[in-house]
Amino acid sequence: MEELQQVKEQIKNFVIECDDKKSLELLDLLATGKMLRSKLILKIAGINQETIKLCAIVEMIHAASLLHDDVIDEADTRRGKPSINALFDNKTSIMFGDILYSKAFTELTKMDKEVAYTVSNAVTLLSIGEMLDVDLTETFNTSYDKYLDMIYKKTASLIEASAKSAAILAGCDKDKYALYGKNLGLAFQMIDDILDITQDSKTLGKPAMLDFVEGKVTIPYLLLHERIEDKKRLESLYKKPLSSDESSWIKEQMISTNALQDSILEAQKLGKEAILAVKDEQNESLVQIMAAMIEREF
Ligand code: FPP
Ligand code: MG
Repeated sequence: MEELQQVKEQIKNFVIECDDKKSLELLDLLATGKMLRSKLILKIAGINQETIKLCAIVEMIHAASLLHDDVIDEADTRRGKPSINALFDNKTSIMFGDILYSKAFTELTKMDKEVAYTVSNAVTLLSIGEMLDVDLTETFNTSYDKYLDMIYKKTASLIEASAKSAAILAGCDKDKYALYGKNLGLAFQMIDDILDITQDSKTLGKPAMLDFVEGKVTIPYLLLHERIEDKKRLESLYKKPLSSDESSWIKEQMISTNALQDSILEAQKLGKEAILAVKDEQNESLVQIMAAMIEREF
């Protein structure tokens, strides 16, 4: 997509403005993701200098949060490539994250005030969400509300802010777009959590079924725990490396209790709610973004 190339060039130009050779080298080593947030902004607000800048700002914040997250999660791959903390060390990942994040905020100060507020406020939520995520891995969480609050803050808040900011720039109904972004973000994270179970490590670009090993009780596990008779066995496997027999057992239980299927349905329901929020906006591509996301390979 030509316009996503423009976003990448804008990011590069922002980093060039930082006037630091090492930062540019590190930028080249970052694997590009799906750029969901940029696609969303451009579909809502169209392509111009300002919207491309907003995309670059949001992508830089997102990249910074992942650079920090990979240190927190001790991850050695990101999007199928070695992570910066694996290639160099934790310090480099944190510091490069700080550079991207602060440059994005410098650029944000030059934007519309409400856009700047919306995006910067989402970053506070994002950071709180990450802390909640880490805290929730301490013991087996069985609260669906806690899970939902955490994924809202950790993932949906920045997607919500992207959609809302784009609507502000385009002069559209910002509340409707915010709701669309929020539900899209929630569905997106749920689907990610489902794919961790259903896809193999080659497709994921990281080990499969890692969430549970890392202490993350995501929606399929929450539903399974609620429904399974042998709760003790499930709990005994929590936060431990899984043998192939153990991971097969979990998957079988998720299928027989419909925990997996109902998780997919829940994500799809949120997806439909997203579309409903913007049904009067006559923007067919918002439906397409949603559909492409919820119809990923389970
Ligand atoms: C990935 O989650 C992590 C996030 C979406 C948010 C991380 C947020 C922070 C570290 C705080 C904000 C920091 C800055 C500098 C803006 P995951 O671990 O569930 O997903 P993964 O499997 O892709 O790692
Ligand atoms: Mg992570």
